[in-house]
Amino acid sequence: MLTQEKVLEILHPIEDPFLHKTLEETGGIEDISIKEEKNHVSVKVLIAKTNTAEQMELQQTIVNALKSGGAATVGLRFDQLPEDVINKFQPEAESQQEESLLDGGSNTKFLTIASGKGGVGKSTVTVNLAVALTRLGKKVGIIDADIYGFSVPDMMGVEERPVVRGEKIIPVERFGVKVVSMGFFVEDNSPIIWRGPMLGKMLTSFFKEVEWGDLDYLLLDLPPGTGDVALDVHSMLPSSKEIIVTTPHPTAAFVAARAGQMALKTEHEILGVIENMAYFESKETGNKEFVFGRGGGTKLAETLQTGVLGHIPLQQPYEDEDVFAPSVYQSDHPIGLSYRNIAAKIIDKY
Ligand SMILES: Nc1ncnc2c1ncn2[C@@H]1O[C@H](COP(=O)(O)OP(=O)(O)OP(=O)(O)O)[C@@H](O)[C@H]1O
Ligand SMILES: [Mg+2]
Repeated sequence: MLTQEKVLEILHPIEDPFLHKTLEETGGIEDISIKEEKNHVSVKVLIAKTNTAEQMELQQTIVNALKSGGAATVGLRFDQLPEDVINKFQPEAESQQEESLLDGGSNTKFLTIASGKGGVGKSTVTVNLAVALTRLGKKVGIIDADIYGFSVPDMMGVEERPVVRGEKIIPVERFGVKVVSMGFFVEDNSPIIWRGPMLGKMLTSFFKEVEWGDLDYLLLDLPPGTGDVALDVHSMLPSSKEIIVTTPHPTAAFVAARAGQMALKTEHEILGVIENMAYFESKETGNKEFVFGRGGGTKLAETLQTGVLGHIPLQQPYEDEDVFAPSVYQSDHPIGLSYRNIAAKIIDKY
């Protein structure tokens, strides 16, 4: 079991990636809390520059160090050191160097799509929100962070593979959305087993080695559940905001609340809840049947003290012989319009 002292002992020798001073010297470890029953350690770390590639590497280093030290899970928050501390240590020349997490994308807003359990429509929501935001004129990318069960390429009907230019991966563009997925780097769709540190590395490459250009929004489709992996992804992006997807069943919403609690733990603001598979509407009679129950989205939003961004009914996109994209709703499809409304709300809020 880790103690506060032990955590400090592990973290103190690690260097601030910009100041090249140890976290002990900079006073960069601000808060440590240890949840004994879950063996979860959360730490607030202050560094000279946040939301950078260096921060992501540091985060990986810290998570690995704490896990080697005995932590089961690690939650990290990053914040900037006070100006006077930075000035004290900062060599003049270095202050000019600016490297952000994404190439040229310092204004990019991160949006994580999460849920408490699998199969509720996270990937469908990610893909359609991205397309809807693009239709509203935004520059959008998707990172399919579900590296075991990637589905974004299939859902969007992406058949090409990214090309490498120089040292950078050029993402595949579909409906104007830039996409990167583990699926692009796997032969024959064969599933792969990744361990935590490899996941972190892969995700870091998805940020650093991909030429995203100047994006307005970068959406992350998370793996299902609230496991280790999801938690690491959460803490990798401290500035991300979250959308929680649930089905209308009250129990499903209860489970999704856990994902929400996790978001709160990483201090991600929750933009709202999307209730997917909300009902089935008969084409003949227009009758709505609430096949998966009712009220889950609203209940979850109340629990998380946020709002419901939209209720998406059960329905497939129109069949289209020319454009193959099994999960993308057309702009004139009723669900396409719902996603447009949700996208507009997101632009309004974030
Ligand atoms: N509103 C909807 N109407 C009809 N089918 C839907 C709807 N939303 C999602 N689906 C279908 O439900 C299935 C699960 O959706 P999806 O893969 O998006 O869920 P997920 O939460 O990403 O799953 P996982 O947890 O496995 O990643 C898919 O086959 C998808 O096409
Ligand atoms: Mg999915």
